[in-house]
Amino acid sequence: MYIESPRYTERFGSVRMNHPQAVVALDSGMKSELPPYGAMGVMKVDEETIKHFENKMAIVIPIKDEKLKLFEGVISGVPHDCMIITVSNSQIEKIDRFRMEGDALNQICRYTSREALIIHQKDPAISEALAEAGYEDLLGEDGLVRDGKCAAMMIGMLMAKVAGKEYVGFVDADNYFPGAILEYVRNYAAGFSMAKSDYSMVRILWRYKPKLSAGLYFKKWGRVSEVTNKYMNSLISSKIGFETEVVRTGNAGEHAISMKLAETLPYAAGYAVEPQELISIFENFGGILPTRDRKAMEQGVDIFQIETRNPHLHEEKGDEHLKGMLLSALSTIYHSPLCDQDLKQAILSELTSQSIIKEGEEPPPLHITPAPKKMDIKKFVAAIKEDFNSYSALQ
Ligand code: GDP
Ligand code: CO
Repeated sequence: MYIESPRYTERFGSVRMNHPQAVVALDSGMKSELPPYGAMGVMKVDEETIKHFENKMAIVIPIKDEKLKLFEGVISGVPHDCMIITVSNSQIEKIDRFRMEGDALNQICRYTSREALIIHQKDPAISEALAEAGYEDLLGEDGLVRDGKCAAMMIGMLMAKVAGKEYVGFVDADNYFPGAILEYVRNYAAGFSMAKSDYSMVRILWRYKPKLSAGLYFKKWGRVSEVTNKYMNSLISSKIGFETEVVRTGNAGEHAISMKLAETLPYAAGYAVEPQELISIFENFGGILPTRDRKAMEQGVDIFQIETRNPHLHEEKGDEHLKGMLLSALSTIYHSPLCDQDLKQAILSELTSQSIIKEGEEPPPLHITPAPKKMDIKKFVAAIKEDFNSYSALQ
């Protein structure tokens, strides 16, 4: 593919956050000439490089009671060499949706001879393995893994680790365009190929997010994202003393992380998970708060934001859902030790003016699960090994 070269990089502490880079063309051909690096502001990421990274990547699909047709489309769009890890919290009683998801995955994997895992979030074998490894933070009062997309992502990440993958990417199950999924994953691979450090992250920026209102309208960004990005940028600006607009993917659900970086980050529950990843990176590696990750500090953390060619169209879950997402995202900033009084005040005004919280209220505290490296991964692997094959979609 052809992609804009990283033009400008914002640096704070050890974090190198790149301004968005647009995909110029989805394919760059077998024989096309390489443009001189950077000369035209465009670089070529060849097919071999993309495949090299896809082979080392697991794609985690969190799913909860989505339309089966959408899920099937999503699976069909994941590049063949990536291992698919589906983590489902779908209903089992009455209609066994989890089983239907497993059947759909099984069919595609059989036809195309590829690898995939499917795991139910509430599988007792998973919670037992987590308890064994001293990682009870992910468990609820009933002893099973908590609800929510964040817990699903973390299970997916751990399974990717068990499978020996070096990168883990996430795609939602409610996406309408298989072609968009294919592009997201290729963009992850392109991003990782540009990283100088073993600690890297790629976040997807949608070119358009169409809305269905009288006809199809190609809106540039989501409402929630715009507000989240604004306050994240304020947070950075207040620390570096220069105004910046570098953050454009504060809410990016579609993103990928190198396993090394993934292991060092704490994760916030529910929909706060993606914005909190950025906040945690700023906290841990921004050079303002102390860090314990010497290696990552030395190598630095590379963050890429890649603007897709495909528009993003997923299930619309209503205004209340959007308000919840905004509250979660702004809470991650509000509760960060990096956030000063002025910014806190601005966030409170934003949330009250949008009637998300009442005058005098504060965003509720976040539930944060400590970094996976705190758990005894060897014990987790040992506990899960026995059952590992039973999660194969080909069973
Ligand atoms: P949005 O796209 O960010 O507005 O959020 P969605 O509600 O579409 O959720 C993103 C993805 O996470 C979708 O694929 C959902 O099916 C999935 N999801 C949401 N909640 C859960 C959960 O509790 N467990 C799992 N495994 N997946 C979830
Ligand atoms: Co969605």
